[in-house]
This record gives sequence, C-alpha cells and structure tokens, in this order.
Amino acid sequence: MTENPMRPLTARPGSALSGRVAVPGDKSISHRALIFGALAIGETAIDGLLQSEDVLCTAAAMRALGATVVAGENGSYKVHGVGVGGLMEPETPLDFGNSGTGARLALGLIGTHPLAAVFLGDASLSRRPMGRVLEPLRAMGTEVIARDGDRLPLAIRGPKTAIPLEYRVPVPSAQVKSAVLLAGLNAPGITTVIEPVATRDHTERMLEGFGADLDITVEDDGARTIRLVGQPKLKPQPVTVPGDPSSAAFPIVAALIVPGSDVVVENVMLNESRTGLFTTLIEMGADLSFENERVSGGETIADIHVRHSTLKGVTVPPDRAPSMIDEYPVLSAAAAFADGQTMMEGLAELRVKESDRLAAVAAGLAANGVTHEEGADFLVVTGRTGDIGGGTVTTHLDHRIAMSFLVLGLAADRPVTVDDAGVINTSFPGFADLMAGLGADLEPAGNTAGEAKA
Ligand code: S3P
Repeated sequence: MTENPMRPLTARPGSALSGRVAVPGDKSISHRALIFGALAIGETAIDGLLQSEDVLCTAAAMRALGATVVAGENGSYKVHGVGVGGLMEPETPLDFGNSGTGARLALGLIGTHPLAAVFLGDASLSRRPMGRVLEPLRAMGTEVIARDGDRLPLAIRGPKTAIPLEYRVPVPSAQVKSAVLLAGLNAPGITTVIEPVATRDHTERMLEGFGADLDITVEDDGARTIRLVGQPKLKPQPVTVPGDPSSAAFPIVAALIVPGSDVVVENVMLNESRTGLFTTLIEMGADLSFENERVSGGETIADIHVRHSTLKGVTVPPDRAPSMIDEYPVLSAAAAFADGQTMMEGLAELRVKESDRLAAVAAGLAANGVTHEEGADFLVVTGRTGDIGGGTVTTHLDHRIAMSFLVLGLAADRPVTVDDAGVINTSFPGFADLMAGLGADLEPAGNTAGEAKA
C-alpha cells in the first residue's frame, strides 16, 4: 500500500472546551458487524458504521471473500453474506492496513475455510504478533506460511474439514477469543474457548444476535467458558453501532484537564467490558455524569457530561486492564495534570499494540516534561511537577498516541506537536474538526497563530 506523507499537528493550550458532540461508531462492533453480515444469508443493515481506515479494510476484505457490502449515507451499510462455509477464495492479497482487529478476526474467519488467502498490513501491523491466533488455527488444521515470529505478510490455507478445538486463551485478548470462535463457526462439533480473564464480549453478543448456538458459563473468579456449536445458519440482523467509548475518551479527558470546560459526548456505549477508563476517572475525582441512559441494539448507551475537574492520582489495578486496554495513553495525559502519582499496572499487552504503547507514552511524557517511571509492565505518572509541553511526540503509526498527546497539549503550558496526525484516521476520522468545534486550538505544525486551522 502507498504510505501517506506525515502530517504533523500542534495542540496549543487555550480557552475552555464547551459544547455537545457525538463520536463515531464503535470500532470493535463495526468490524464484527461486517464480518457477521458476510456470514449471514440475506441482508444485514448496519447503521452508524465507523468509516475509518481500519474498518474500511475489513469491508474490502469481506467483498474480496464474496460478500456484497454497499455503503449508503452516514455510515449506513447493507451487507449480503454468503453463509458459514461459503466464503470465496480472494483473488488478491487482503490488506488490513493498521488493523490488528481486522487481521486477527479475519484469520480466524478464513482459517477454517478450505481456501488460500494472503494477509498484508502496514509497517505497524507487520511488526505485531500473529502467533497468538495462528497457534489455535494450526491446531484446527490450518496451514500457515508466515515470516519469522509469525508476522505479516503471511499466507494461510484452511483444511477441508476443520477440527473443533478447546482453547484456553493464554493472554487476555478479545481478538484471540474472537478469532477462535470465528474459526469454530466453520468446524463441525463444538468449539470451546476458555478465557481466564474476561475481555470485551462483542463477538459473543453478536453471535447470539445472529442466531448461533452459544453457551457461556462464568466461574466465581470471572473466568468464562464459551461453547459454540459449529456450522450454524446465521440470520441477518439489523445492527446499530453505538458511539465508541475509546474515541469518547479523548474529548472527555480533554474537558477534564482544560480549565473551565463543560462538554457532553452523546451516544457513548457503556458495555461493562469497555468502561474501565470512566471508573478510573471517577476515582480520580472527575465530574462525569451519565445522562439519558438507554438500551439500543442490546447495549447500554448514555450521553456523558463532563466538566473540568481537579484530579488526584490513583492506583489502577491490573485486573481492570482488559476493560480499558486502549485507554492507558489518554489516561496518562489525565494523570499528567492530577495531583500526585497515578500507578498503572498490568500493562504487558500495551507492548504489542499499534506501537509499543508503553514506550511510546513514556517517550511522549519525557518529551513534554512529565515526571514518570516506565517499568516492564507498569507506568507511574506524577502530575504537575513542573511546566508541561513544548515537545514533539513520535506517533509510531499509532492513532491513540497521536490523539492522547494532542489532548495533553490542550491543557499544557506550552504547545505539543505530534509528528503524524494522519494516523488518526485509523479509528477517529474527523477528530481534529470535532475537537476544534469544542474550541480546541489544533493546527498543522509550523503554522503560526491566525493561519488555517486543521
Ligand atoms: C479489540 C480488542 C483489543 C483492543 C483493540 C480492539 C477487539 O485488542 O486493543 O483495539 O475489537 O477485539 P486485544 O484483543 O489484542 O487486547
């Protein structure tokens, strides 16, 4: 794929943020809506699909596998699927861009179909471990040719008849759980996934919604056993995609740390497997309230009202990590303005995200004068020890690093520049405009005040 030129962007401290905004649709649900739509026979109508680069790669992959995916206005999509077991062999390599979720879920989906497929990704995705998905797939009969360390680019060929598996997920990962369940859809018999630590449950919810036969038991210690009966006939479902809490995190943290701010973020999904950041911010003293709570498409959603708050440092327990795994970079920005230390533990998985997020956050904090300590799997941030800002942050093709440090810059003493804001389109197209609409001062780096805004 062609690499885009870097787009540096600067966030300047300025006036309070105010207004009402709605963030784009949830990324996890958007990927899954396209994938389950591609497996159901008949029309799946999707409302509010996230039209970001990641999700559009998954849409292209589903088309290459034989599904019809038609885009309407404002994220309304219609998918006509081919039925479980009915995927076609793609004629060209499948390019998943920056998306670990797209690549790993599609590996599971395709891996038990008797066809060959080649998987590609950008430089970030090509560094990320795929062995965590390939290991269970090999046990189900999938042949794999991959680069050393099981990285992309790679090729797979599924078996004629897949072997159903009982698999204990070795790392807390919704992507691995989901890949094995998707693989199990085209295996005869029962595929069982045991997750010792609960992770986001969108795949299970959607499997049930699309009519799969699924049984879930939960132990006293929270471990979940998911049994799926293979080769079901999936029924098309209307899917309404709620606002992504991981995207809402950026305007919410910005409003908390920019003095005088008062912001409402509408239509945010509050699935418990995703709300660890909000729990943590409330423990830090955040003035956050959940208004107009309602249920839509099986998920609780609410409008989140947030006002600037005096925050204090807290210890975030390691068992909360799965419910806020994508939110540690932006929590670190909040922690930089809190009184005292914020201790974040259980962060080993951050090392294998779009970037080594622990290292990228630590480097960004260092570049902007924020006192912190980076451990193998923990981060301690000490708030308000001196002037904050003035640095340039390397995003390493990581959308959440870019947005987190732009948020930091809005409340800092001096401007903060990120070296490439183009990567934000991975998950949150329109981020800069949405933030500017709330009053944020974001401008292409190098511009002086008064020149065109981002
Ligand atoms: C996702 C799961 C998480 C998360 C990612 C989306 C998903 O990854 O970081 O942004 O949609 O299943 P892991 O499962 O690797 O933790």
